[in-house]
Amino acid sequence: MVELAPSILSADFSRLAEEIEAAERGGGTVIHIDIMDGHFVPNITLGPPVVKSLRKATKLPLDCHLMIENADEFIPAFAEAGANWVSVHYEACRHLHRTLELIAQHGMEPAVVVNPATRVNLLVDVLPMVHHVLVMSVNPGFGGQSFIPFTLDKIRRLHELRRELGLGYRIEVDGGIAPDTIAQVVEAGADLLVAGNAVFGHGHPEKHARELLHAARVAAGEVA
Ligand code: DX5
Ligand code: ZN
Repeated sequence: MVELAPSILSADFSRLAEEIEAAERGGGTVIHIDIMDGHFVPNITLGPPVVKSLRKATKLPLDCHLMIENADEFIPAFAEAGANWVSVHYEACRHLHRTLELIAQHGMEPAVVVNPATRVNLLVDVLPMVHHVLVMSVNPGFGGQSFIPFTLDKIRRLHELRRELGLGYRIEVDGGIAPDTIAQVVEAGADLLVAGNAVFGHGHPEKHARELLHAARVAAGEVA
């Protein structure tokens, strides 16, 4: 089943609980939270205290996408705050295997993220230990950017690898997911669809979430 993961990056930060409720009513089943440190990416967002507050606003899995350096230092704080899934960038982790183990040891689902310019073949050895692989379809740092088409090949490759290796990781895609791009990522094999601007950027998040999810389900052959 494909799932929609609304990204709160484009939500109204003064009304996060209401925004999440609306996206949830529209069919969102995972809440994607972008954590940026101003070093790994050229933007700053939020950290564990906000995750802790969001934990009270929803029962849905909190999918924390860490765009930070020194992720190991902050993993205990995210666990304490109530994060469920934690993804770290291949490009930001010097000891990726250690970091993924640390996330699992803290009772959270570990995941790895690749930037558009990173080959997914580099991930082969850690695929058995991840809950999902997150393919960035824009360069991380900002919402509302345009989808980069060559990232579809990464999704296809991860889909093939999953079958070849007999693994069960999920394939998440993040960046530029909108009504005009969602079908192609689903057809390529993605099953966790992050959308920020398309859900929260134009008002009516419930309606926009519902429309996006419907388009994804049609592309997946789950509904007519
Ligand atoms: C970008 C973030 C995304 C962002 C996607 O660095 O990782 O999660 O919210 O935003 P849209 O859907 O607006 O491209
Ligand atoms: Zn993200």
